[in-house]
Amino acid sequence: MKIAIIGTGYVGLVSGACFSAWGHHVICVDVDNARIDALNRGEVAIFEPGLTNLVTSSLQSGHLQFATDLKKAVRDIDIVFIAVGTPASAHDGDADLSHVFKAAQQTALALCGPTLVVTKSTVPVGTSERLEALMRSVRPNADFEVASNPEFLREGSAIADFNKPDRVVIGCDSDRARALLLALYRPLMEAGVPVITTTRRSAELTKYAANAFLATKIAFINEMADLCEKVGANIDEIAIGMGMDKRIGAAFLKAGPGYGGSCFPKDTTALLRTAQECGVSLRLVEETIASNTSRKRTLAHRLRALLGETLQFKKIAVLGLTFKAGTDDMRDAPSLTLIHALQSAGANVHAFDPRGMKNAHALLRDVTFSSNPYECAEEADAIVLMTDWQCLQNLDFKRLGATMKRRVFLDLRGVYDLDMLVNRYGFTAERVGHPTRQAPEDRIIRLKRRVTYVPPGVEVHNGTRSLRGSSFTRASSASVQRELDHE
Ligand code: UGA
Repeated sequence: MKIAIIGTGYVGLVSGACFSAWGHHVICVDVDNARIDALNRGEVAIFEPGLTNLVTSSLQSGHLQFATDLKKAVRDIDIVFIAVGTPASAHDGDADLSHVFKAAQQTALALCGPTLVVTKSTVPVGTSERLEALMRSVRPNADFEVASNPEFLREGSAIADFNKPDRVVIGCDSDRARALLLALYRPLMEAGVPVITTTRRSAELTKYAANAFLATKIAFINEMADLCEKVGANIDEIAIGMGMDKRIGAAFLKAGPGYGGSCFPKDTTALLRTAQECGVSLRLVEETIASNTSRKRTLAHRLRALLGETLQFKKIAVLGLTFKAGTDDMRDAPSLTLIHALQSAGANVHAFDPRGMKNAHALLRDVTFSSNPYECAEEADAIVLMTDWQCLQNLDFKRLGATMKRRVFLDLRGVYDLDMLVNRYGFTAERVGHPTRQAPEDRIIRLKRRVTYVPPGVEVHNGTRSLRGSSFTRASSASVQRELDHE
């Protein structure tokens, strides 16, 4: 088939590269001249495992082309996929469809011969009908149809997800459009992938419902992790116990710093907008957004509590910046919220990420970027693990501890064994969903530092001394020893 794809972001570029590898003739279009020039040289600006190789081989085979002239690209083509961005609009969080409408309008002006226009961008329910009306107003008699085919790939595993998805959803309101898309996805069907056909509205809403449900699952396990920390339970054991129930499933039950990225935050908000416009209350989605937002905002407080003292003038090493491992994407990354809060509290932030530092640089101020985790942690008062990159999963704690000012480690990805950190390396450490563990000497310092306050008008006698209201005293060595013995 001859396929045009408008937009060369994650979805557009991965779809184009994969369709061309399936043997179709694909032309990918973007308004960004520099990006298209680079792609024509085989240079891919985003970090996505395997994508550069796939683009290069498809360019060489002649199945893939890149261009900026949309009108030329969509002329005489079987299927035009619209895969442009639908960011949250600044004023109300609704999906900004301006790029989608522009792409559809230009396609309508240029198409000739029967053409199926398909939205792969995540668009609110009813968008296909609006696009069709818009295109019909431009070209009343042209032979085209509009369908919906939402994409479910994840950044970091995009090619594998595209070639072996859990399902393909095809939303069409005509047999002709359905037959064409079923023919396109025949290789996946033959490989056993379920392909479901729905109405356009159902396909559009399926995508939002899936993302909102996954976001809810993450928010749920994160709240359970908070409870585990208080009651002395282990969130990883609970996730295993829950996940073995087939009705629940094990995926997306990993507690962490809160979800981020270019999809969940914007799609949950856009879904709420759609519901509000229809007078429907989506309270679970509302709570998911609120829970995730407050989780990200409290990360700096967690660190302060772990340190047991103010963050002012402290050097904090943040390891991992991207919203998850396997991508250089910094959009809505929880690390951004943490770093801003640390800086507001007067901390001095140093950071390391194997892929995300270029993008992070553009979004952060006054952060010192390091070339490796060890340099980042030198003289640091604490380390926060924000992203579970493979290269951050086997840190040498002896080496880290030797150069840190204080050995404090906040593991927000549940990677490290607390017994090892505390008993072998003398760290005060916290792992998401587990009770905090303090290094023995850190515990003594804290107890000694503890201050007793006697309220005004009250007098306290402890045998050797008497304290009057509004006076302060530090815990004595004897009382510290008593508490430690007691434990
Ligand atoms: C997500 C969906 O998973 C894809 O199916 C969808 O196609 C895509 O959005 C989209 O709408 O385009 P993605 O944003 O690439 O994909 O990332 P995910 O792997 O879903 O992770 C999202 C966030 O949830 C990350 O911050 C991640 O760290 C967090 N997460 C994920 C957890 O905290 N715990 C988990 O168990 C899983």
